[in-house]
Amino acid sequence: MGSPPPNIARVYDYLLGGKDNYEADRTLGERIAIALPQVHLGVQQQRAVLRRVVDHLVREAGLRQLIDIGSGLPTAENVHQVAQRIAPDTQVVYVDNDPSVLAHARALLADDKRTVVTDGDLRHPAELLADPALRAHIDFDRPVGLLLCGILHYVLDDEDPYGIVRALVEALPSGSYVFVHHLTTAGPEVDADTAEAEAALRQGVGRGQFRTHEQVAAFLDSLDLLEPGVVTVPEWRPDADTPSPDDHPVLRLAAVGVGRKR
Ligand SMILES: C[S@@+](CC[C@H](N)C(=O)[O-])C[C@H]1O[C@@H](n2cnc3c(N)ncnc32)[C@H](O)[C@@H]1O
Repeated sequence: MGSPPPNIARVYDYLLGGKDNYEADRTLGERIAIALPQVHLGVQQQRAVLRRVVDHLVREAGLRQLIDIGSGLPTAENVHQVAQRIAPDTQVVYVDNDPSVLAHARALLADDKRTVVTDGDLRHPAELLADPALRAHIDFDRPVGLLLCGILHYVLDDEDPYGIVRALVEALPSGSYVFVHHLTTAGPEVDADTAEAEAALRQGVGRGQFRTHEQVAAFLDSLDLLEPGVVTVPEWRPDADTPSPDDHPVLRLAAVGVGRKR
């Protein structure tokens, strides 16, 4: 039996230094890394900002329910590990539409009663919200943290990304939070290094749509935006060792923001 074809979640795991990947994933990961040597830093910092946001939502905002859509593999310090270390009673629902991610994630989480993995497609929010496993795990009368990390750029304009986010936000009770991480285009005025990094990243992502900072901010425009607003990954409440986007073009190619529903 050969290695299964590459899969974005396992390639991502490989780039993060994880062990849940196969030969084909490593080969594709290496190809991306040749075109864009900084890609490891990009995915590490994506995971790092996700950790900072989850820490804020659980520790500061006091949330005890998180829905992570497009979760990928729940390895390498993922959402449930960060959240449940702060508050062990935090319920986490991972949603993904990739069967191999689901199988792998279910096996990894078999003994975890507070974390479930469910099959859902962001492009079908009504079905996603009606999912019995999600409804059994999440109480929609209490605030929820909705995580859309590294997924909205896979939803093309003609698939109504803004309508999708609106439908999800409408379903959330007051006091809920939404986190968006989205790949961005550096724009026409950009320096040669960043333009090169963007071209390589687009190749690695495949089917997807990079948006401007303004277009990313528009996903959160019905919510109260937390400080510091919609910014690059390292600028969102950095830790002491967070690298600067000035030194690393790849870190200028994503925007993040967190909004709170009144
Ligand atoms: C790049 S990974 C992001 C992993 C994680 N959220 C993070 O940022 O660390 C993107 C994940 O989104 C999933 N995905 C892509 N399109 C999706 C869709 N329409 N519905 C649900 N999941 C989707 C992929 O299967 C993959 O696991």
